[in-house]
Amino acid sequence: MSTPLLAAVGHGSTALWYLTRATGLVALVLLSATVVVGIVCSVGWVSERWPRFLSQALHRNLSLLSLGLIVVHVLTTVGDGYVPISVVDAVIPFRSPYRPIWVGLGACAFDLLLAVAITSALRRHLGARLWRAVHWLAYACWPVALFHALGSGSDARLGGAQLVYLVCVAAVVGALGWRIAAARAASPVMRTGAAVTGVVVVVLLATFAFLGPLRPGWSRRAGTSSALLAALSGAAASRGAGGTATGSPSTGQSPTTSTPGTAGLAAPFTSAFSGTYSVVGPDPTGHEQVVFSAHLEPSGSALSISLSGSALDDGVSLSSGTVTLGSLQGPVTSLDGSVVSASVSGSGRTESLSIQLVIDDHSNLVSGSVSAARSAGGKGSSP
Ligand code: HEM
Repeated sequence: MSTPLLAAVGHGSTALWYLTRATGLVALVLLSATVVVGIVCSVGWVSERWPRFLSQALHRNLSLLSLGLIVVHVLTTVGDGYVPISVVDAVIPFRSPYRPIWVGLGACAFDLLLAVAITSALRRHLGARLWRAVHWLAYACWPVALFHALGSGSDARLGGAQLVYLVCVAAVVGALGWRIAAARAASPVMRTGAAVTGVVVVVLLATFAFLGPLRPGWSRRAGTSSALLAALSGAAASRGAGGTATGSPSTGQSPTTSTPGTAGLAAPFTSAFSGTYSVVGPDPTGHEQVVFSAHLEPSGSALSISLSGSALDDGVSLSSGTVTLGSLQGPVTSLDGSVVSASVSGSGRTESLSIQLVIDDHSNLVSGSVSAARSAGGKGSSP
């Protein structure tokens, strides 16, 4: 198939949701820059052209800007309404029904950042010691935000987003190394402790990324309830963005009923089917293939559906697909949520198929129903 059937799928179909993702990434970059410039301030680095007050002003402005962007990030998430996240979920951690742990970590990072901002505004009244103690939280805020971003974001498997994450980690780890090396007055125990903490955080982040968000099926493992995933799948379809194939939840829809007695073998007919599915990939280019192998009931005719496309967090953005039913074969003509349409032909016959998939992604089982209609000029067939 030369043109992609679906341009995009999943929850990237409204301006607000795009804004959530974009502001999240920019906020992370700004937060990383805030940490790096904060370290420049604390090391006390100056040059002829770069006096200390410039670092301090940059640090303050970057932190305010990142806080502002995070507020927009939260408001667009709540305003979009695609996932049921409330303003309360943004400040009280681990309440969100959508990826509770990972969105909860975002709330923790937001709270830490608010605490740092508020104590900075009240610095004169609080005294330097308390202010400094709270300001150390800024270091904790950064890895917490990073775990949140990887765990909640839709874009962790996109090369561009990965580059952003890598640059942020490299910049902060480099600055931390510089800070530790420059802190000659600190005790060796403190310096070693800081270095070990830095290494442990990076190893944990990398392990988490490779075992979690970078692998298919993260949506379910991220803790979103099946009911919500099913609702999201339906919403993605109704937004007209296309539909998800595997990795996406069972849609919760029942297959159209089909009884062996009414399911004649020559089109038009409707027949139930059941079988299994498997996912191959994604390969390094993010390409993934989902193959459904099933048998019609009661005829036992083989039904095979192969969908190929780009791996997304919640499924596959379809670029091509093939359906084989008995001796008939042809391309997928559309994918709308969990309904695959195809035009199959063989031995001079052409039939239109509408296949309702019900996916059980806990056990990799698929069931559903297939309805066959004679295409104009087609003679019908027996699968
Ligand atoms: C310091 C605070 C925060 C930072 C730096 C941050 C940053 C990010 C980043 C970088 C992403 C990934 C975007 C993507 O993959 O495209 C993300 C995703 C997300 N964040 Fe945050 N975030 C923060 C706080 C919050 C809070 C408090 C909430 C609660 C409403 C929240 C809700 C979300 C959601 C729902 C997503 C998933 C968006 C998607 O599907 O791509 N974030 N965040």
